[in-house]
Amino acid sequence: MTDTIRFILNGKLCEISGLPPTMTLLQYLRGPAGLCGTKEGCAEGDCGACTVMVARLEKDGSAPYRSINACIALLPSLDGRQIVTVEHLRNVAAGALHPVQQAMVECHASQCGFCTPGFVMALTNELNNNPQADDTAIHDAISGNLCRCTGYRPILEAARRAKDMPRVDIPADAAALASIARTKMFSYEMPAGKFFAPVTPDELADVLAQYPDAYMLSGGTDVGLWVTKFHMDLPVIVYTGNIAALRGVTDVDGNLEIGAAATYSEAFAALAKRGAGMEDLLRRIGSLHIRNAGTVGGNIANGSPIGDGPPPLIALQAEIILRSQKGTRSLALEKYFIAYKKQDRQPGEFIEKIIVPKRAENTLFATYKVSKRFDQDISAVCAGFALDMDGGVIRAARLCYGGMAATPKRAAAAEAALVGKPWTREALADAAAAMDKDFTPLSDMRASAAYRQSVAKNLLKRFFIETTMPEVKTGVYRHAG
Ligand SMILES: Cc1cc2nc3c(=O)[nH]c(=O)nc-3n(C[C@H](O)[C@H](O)[C@H](O)COP(=O)(O)OP(=O)(O)OC[C@H]3O[C@@H](n4cnc5c(N)ncnc54)[C@H](O)[C@@H]3O)c2cc1C
Ligand code: FES
Ligand code: FES
Repeated sequence: MTDTIRFILNGKLCEISGLPPTMTLLQYLRGPAGLCGTKEGCAEGDCGACTVMVARLEKDGSAPYRSINACIALLPSLDGRQIVTVEHLRNVAAGALHPVQQAMVECHASQCGFCTPGFVMALTNELNNNPQADDTAIHDAISGNLCRCTGYRPILEAARRAKDMPRVDIPADAAALASIARTKMFSYEMPAGKFFAPVTPDELADVLAQYPDAYMLSGGTDVGLWVTKFHMDLPVIVYTGNIAALRGVTDVDGNLEIGAAATYSEAFAALAKRGAGMEDLLRRIGSLHIRNAGTVGGNIANGSPIGDGPPPLIALQAEIILRSQKGTRSLALEKYFIAYKKQDRQPGEFIEKIIVPKRAENTLFATYKVSKRFDQDISAVCAGFALDMDGGVIRAARLCYGGMAATPKRAAAAEAALVGKPWTREALADAAAAMDKDFTPLSDMRASAAYRQSVAKNLLKRFFIETTMPEVKTGVYRHAG
C-alpha cells in the first residue's frame, strides 16, 4: 500500500499519487498543477527563477517559511509541507499586488520579467520573516537570484521600498501542517520507483538494510541535479529530512553535535560561533535557497574535493558518527575521505551526526574561501587552519584544503614544518616551501594548478598576518582570532 503525497499548496490541501518520485516540485507546479508563474531557468539551483516559499512544522510548533529552489526539490520530499508560489500573492493581498510586487513595479525592477517571480518570492520570504531586513539580509535573500537585464540596483531599491509599505503577512498554517504530519515512515511506491521517508534513525537503518543500494536524499542540492542534469534513474530513494533526531544542533558540554540532516541555515548560528571566518564561509555556501535545503551531512557524504564544509571541520578535529542496523561507529572526519568519490561508508550505513569538539583557548583558527564570485560559486580553494599553541610555540598544526587534491586533504609536510617552532615569518616560509610536496593540484575551469598552489600559500600567509598583526587590515569583513 502506497501513501499519497500530501502538502498544502497556496492554501489548499493537495493529495498526489501516480507521479514518478523523481518529478521535481517545479515540474509539478508547471505541469499537473498548472501554475506557470514559477519559472525554469537553469534547473540546477543556480538562477533562482524557480524560488518558492516552503514551511514545515518544527518541534516547537512554529512553521517558518524558507525560500528554496523548486527545480531541484523532488516532489515526495515536500510531503507534510506548506508551499507558497507567486500565484498566491494576489490571494493574500486581497486581489492587489503584494507590496514587494508593487515596489518592483514602482522601481522599474523588471524588464523581460523572466527572473521577476523568483526575485519576488525571495524578497517576500525575507520580508515575511524579517520585516526590518537590512541591506545585508536583503543581499543574502537574493544571493541565489540572477537577473540578466534589469541590473540589481532597482531590485534592491524595490526591497527597501517594500519595507516601508503596509505589511501583508503570509502566515503558515501550523494546525493544517500538524494534521498532515507523519508519525511513521512515509512510503510512496510507484512503478517508476520507490520513495521512503522514515521518521526515526531506527526506521532509516531498517529501510537502508532492506535496500542497501538505495540512494539517500537529504537536501537534494546534489541529488536533484542527478535527476535534472544527468537524467539518472533512482529506483529507490530514502529521504532523511523528516527525521527530527537527525536535524538537531546541540551543545553537549561544549562539543557541538550537528545532526546530519540539519541544513546549513539550521546549523548556521552554532557553526558561525566556532571561529574566525566561519560566518563568512557559511554565507558563501551556495545561496540562501541552497543553504535552506542543503545539509551539513550531505556536504560531507558527497565526498566532493571542493565541498566547503570539510576543510574547516577537519581543522577543528570534527568526527562523524556513522550508523546502521549493526550499530554506530565514529571516525575522524578526515579519515572518511579515502580517494576521489570513495568514502569510508558501508552499504546500509548513514552519517548520523557530526561532532565538533570544544575549541581549546590556545588554538588559533581561521577558514577562507576563494572563488570567482562572492555568492553562489564553488571554491577554487577553500582552507581551514588550526594551530595549537603552547607558550608561543606551535604544538600541533592542522592545515586542511579543498580544491587542492582529489579529496579534502591536510598539508602534512607544511604541518610538519611548523610543529615545534614559534609562529614566525621563518616558520611560515618553511611551511610554504614544504607545501609543494603536499599538493599537485589540477587545472580546471575554476583555476589553474599554479593559481591554486599560489593561493594555498597566500592563504597561510594571510592567516599568519591576521594572527600575529591584528593591526593589519587584510580583508573587508574581519580579522582572525
Ligand atoms: C547552486 C548550487 C550551489 C552550491 N554551492 C556550494 C558551495 O558553495 N559550497 C559547497 O560546499 N557546496 C555547494 N553546493 C553543493 C551542495 O549544496 C552541498 O554539497 C550540500 O551541502 C549537499 O547537501 P544536501 O543535503 O543537499 O545533499 P543531497 O543532495 O541530499 O545528498 C548529497 C550526497 O550525500 C548522500 N547523503 C545525504 N545525506 C546522507 C547521510 N546522512 N548519510 C550518508 N549519505 C548521505 C546522498 O546520497 C548524496 O550522495 C552547491 C550546490 C548547488 C546546486
Ligand atoms: S530554475 Fe534556476 S534555480 Fe531553479
Ligand atoms: S528582468 Fe530579464 S532576467 Fe531579470
